[in-house]
Amino acid sequence: MKESILNARTHRRYRSEKVDSETLKEILQIAKNTPSALNMQLSRYIIINEDQELIDKIFHLTNLPTVHLVEEEYKPAGFIVVVAEKEKIKSRDYLLFDQGIAYQTLNLLMGDYGLRTVCMFSPSKKKIAACLDLDTDKYEVCYTIGYGYPIAQKRNIVETTDPTFWKYYKDEDGNYTVPKLTLDTVLLEIK
Ligand SMILES: Cc1cc2nc3c(=O)[nH]c(=O)nc-3n(C[C@H](O)[C@H](O)[C@H](O)COP(=O)(O)O)c2cc1C
Repeated sequence: MKESILNARTHRRYRSEKVDSETLKEILQIAKNTPSALNMQLSRYIIINEDQELIDKIFHLTNLPTVHLVEEEYKPAGFIVVVAEKEKIKSRDYLLFDQGIAYQTLNLLMGDYGLRTVCMFSPSKKKIAACLDLDTDKYEVCYTIGYGYPIAQKRNIVETTDPTFWKYYKDEDGNYTVPKLTLDTVLLEIK
């Protein structure tokens, strides 16, 4: 468990290998059972795994090619767009909390299958909804998950006490290094 959590880093470049749709359903079958405030279970999942044209379109709605310079050949194998039924959203806190738990659960489960993910707020919710021809009277787009078999497995965590040092970078060996705050920095002493 400890190792799975530390290895469940964000990946933005993937091999061209497709992911079996049944595997994705198996993962969601488990991830959907995570805790939910009042057990409202507001999230709905749209898997875009087969329609290559749609995958290409969504890739270009994310910041992967622009900010992270992910080349076309390394784009995610597919995307999961997480939406919520508008009418049932009584509290944003409930929704966001539930979705955070569900994302990390799904992220960890993906690791069991050799898959990695990137959680994304970057694609415009409006554009994603239009792309999917979503009934926007009923549903709201919340976030998007890119997934696939990663081209590089190695990720390092470097501990820092500097809260302004948050940007990940490549070390001399070309390994992505993600700064994380030390325990002493995140633990607050109440006097
Ligand atoms: C809510 C949320 C939204 C994110 N949105 C994006 C995004 O739009 N594009 C992207 O490349 N990464 C996105 N990320 C990934 C973060 O950049 C990543 O988690 C962070 O750099 C730390 O890396 P780590 O996940 O390996 O710890 C998002 C992560 C979270 C939790």
